[in-house]
Amino acid sequence: MRFSVRPARRPLRGTVIVPGDKSIAHRWLILAATAEGESRLAGVPASLDVWSTATCLSALRPHREPLVEVEAGLPRAEVERGITLDLTVNASGFGDLRQAGAVLDCGNSATCLRLLLGVLAGRPFGATLDGDGSLRARPMERVAHPLRAMGASVETANGTPPVRMRGGRLSGIEHAPTVPSAQVKGAVLLAGMQADGTTTVRERIPTRDHTERALGALGAPVSAVDGAISLSAFAHGGFAGRVPGDVSSAAFLLAAAAVVPGSSVTIVGVGVNPSRTGFLEALARMGAAVEIETAGVEVGEPVGSVTVGGAPLRGLSMVPAETARCIDEVPVLAAVAAAAAGETRFAGVAELRVKESDRVAAIVGTIRALGGDAEAEDDDLVVGGGGLAGGAVDALGDHRIAMAFAVAGLAARAPVEIGGMEWVDVSFPGFVPALRSLGAEGGPV
Ligand code: S3P
Repeated sequence: MRFSVRPARRPLRGTVIVPGDKSIAHRWLILAATAEGESRLAGVPASLDVWSTATCLSALRPHREPLVEVEAGLPRAEVERGITLDLTVNASGFGDLRQAGAVLDCGNSATCLRLLLGVLAGRPFGATLDGDGSLRARPMERVAHPLRAMGASVETANGTPPVRMRGGRLSGIEHAPTVPSAQVKGAVLLAGMQADGTTTVRERIPTRDHTERALGALGAPVSAVDGAISLSAFAHGGFAGRVPGDVSSAAFLLAAAAVVPGSSVTIVGVGVNPSRTGFLEALARMGAAVEIETAGVEVGEPVGSVTVGGAPLRGLSMVPAETARCIDEVPVLAAVAAAAAGETRFAGVAELRVKESDRVAAIVGTIRALGGDAEAEDDDLVVGGGGLAGGAVDALGDHRIAMAFAVAGLAARAPVEIGGMEWVDVSFPGFVPALRSLGAEGGPV
């Protein structure tokens, strides 16, 4: 679908609820399907990535009702309506999972594939995990390697999916990932729940901590001290929680407010876990007004509201640990940076080359195609400010590139047309109506 966004003629205003957090939903679904007892999950987002995890888990539970009903592998109707679901999941521990009758299709989702590798590492049966063209280009040895060290047999296709594995008896290890990755940490900890002895992940640069927060809330013997997260074998009971709104989806609407002076946009019921709010600090440093309020906690996750007010913005320089804290928001921050005064530098963006697309190339190419200035300098991404002219670009099969440059259109001198807008369904099916509800103008072309 080709979609055109017009430069904003007036400030954006409004209060929005965004769908549930995809990182948290993957983890809670996995923990519900491996709990001893009944779990009740509210606000599970109907985004394609989360559905991949729900359908893979259903395939690993052939003796139970599917977690979600899907047609031809895609929850099309639900996605189009952008709904969230309340699910009840019954399970009898990790032993509830059985060998699947077919290849596990993880779609576009590396979180699904990598976390499931960790779960299946401790199960005494074989599995093959695969995905779409984008996922088949993404590195899996970073997870395969520690899981082999724990005792699982894992075979990648030259480092990428399909991944063939056989789980079994595991021993705890101490692992220091070579790249900062919450997916690697999560996979090793999920395997560690099933291993003999203690499992420790040592992080040089901290990453999102949803796995350890959920485990802590479930009573697991987990500790996090000076970047070392340790866990020993643990059987958890069922639990109940509402998935907080996805702050990474909210980021696009909040960035839209930031680039249109005079705007004020509030997102309510959203996750405000500090390991995910690095981009809000970046927006504040650029000159936007940012307010965060915490109202409660769900299964260890702080939930609250975030308001961003638009103002004239200036560029900033981020060091690698700061970039890592907003790794998924670099595309939209780059779009914001293109609208700001002065240059912005994101140091340490190498990981962005192996996301849903090569995001460094996608950001540089897209900003240049819209008349702006951006370049990759070794592991840094540098974006020149001063505003974009507008024009036509492509989402390149990447949900976050599609949404980032829709935001860029609001601050450009002429409309921005994006090809492949349907990719937003991977994480935020209701993005276009939400943006329009704030007063943004645009539509299919
Ligand atoms: C995620 C971790 C990050 C992030 C992804 C979600 C997670 O990936 O980019 O969107 O839920 O653990 P990496 O672990 O590859 O950094």
